[in-house]
Amino acid sequence: MVYVKDLEDSDLRKVRMSLREELEAIDNYEKRIETAKDAELKKILAHNMDEEKEHTAMLMEWLRKTDSTQDKMFESHD
Ligand SMILES: [Fe+2]
Repeated sequence: MVYVKDLEDSDLRKVRMSLREELEAIDNYEKRIETAKDAELKKILAHNMDEEKEHTAMLMEWLRKTDSTQDKMFESHD
């Protein structure tokens, strides 16, 4: 269990939930890109998918700054 001083649990939960939603959005865009017939639409969807990846990175950065245990896992793990 992670305890982060001066930060309510609910903020961590919000970030984790948002991460799940962003990753799901990436999956959804990827599926739509694969099945879209119009080349221009494929480009738009790919652009939007990349924005979701940016959102994911922003949330991960916040999570790493806030949860030191999570952050350490990016440096070293089994
Ligand atoms: Fe997003």
